[in-house]
Amino acid sequence: MEPPRMSPVVEPLSWMLGTWLSEPPGAGTFPTLQPFRYLEEAHISHVGQPVLNFSFSAFHPDTHKPMHRECGFIRLEPDTNKVAFVSAQNTGIVEVEEGEVNGQELCIASHSIARISFAKEPHVEQITRKFRLNSEGKLEQTVSMATTTQPLTQHLHVTYRKV
Ligand code: HEM
Repeated sequence: MEPPRMSPVVEPLSWMLGTWLSEPPGAGTFPTLQPFRYLEEAHISHVGQPVLNFSFSAFHPDTHKPMHRECGFIRLEPDTNKVAFVSAQNTGIVEVEEGEVNGQELCIASHSIARISFAKEPHVEQITRKFRLNSEGKLEQTVSMATTTQPLTQHLHVTYRKV
């Protein structure tokens, strides 16, 4: 079967499409945590709908044990650069972020965050992300968060190579 034609609505985000692997390993930071490294596989695809599908799967850099995982959808408001990012995470968080795509850069911030009743503390109160395609054709993701104990601070930075 022919691969589905990309909807023109999501064309402004076409630079995100593909299967990507962290290279070098991602870097995790937060005032309450020891700095850590992680591997991450990102799949960003479409099935011809005016929406992108994504999954991010993180692994321990030495043991390759699965760590953080999330998947969801990225929507664009037709004829604008307004983006909505909807994600379900294995930690029991479901979140919606909104923002804008400008060229090959997408900046979004949490609009709503829901969590399971027995989620571990501290709870996340705010999330911001930036995705960009850098001058080497690599995808970068930077995630910052505020928790019930810490103000908005960077938690993750990862550069991915397209595979
Ligand atoms: C810890 C949120 C993605 C690895 C934490 C904590 C929070 C959090 C609230 C606890 C911080 C504290 O104790 O003060 C998030 C959110 C993410 C995310 C909202 C995505 C938007 C990731 C990813 C990795 C990761 C992709 C990669 C492996 C860790 C590790 C810890 C941690 C290793 C410390 C140990 C632990 O609590 O499990 N994260 N995280 N996180 N996060 Fe993330």
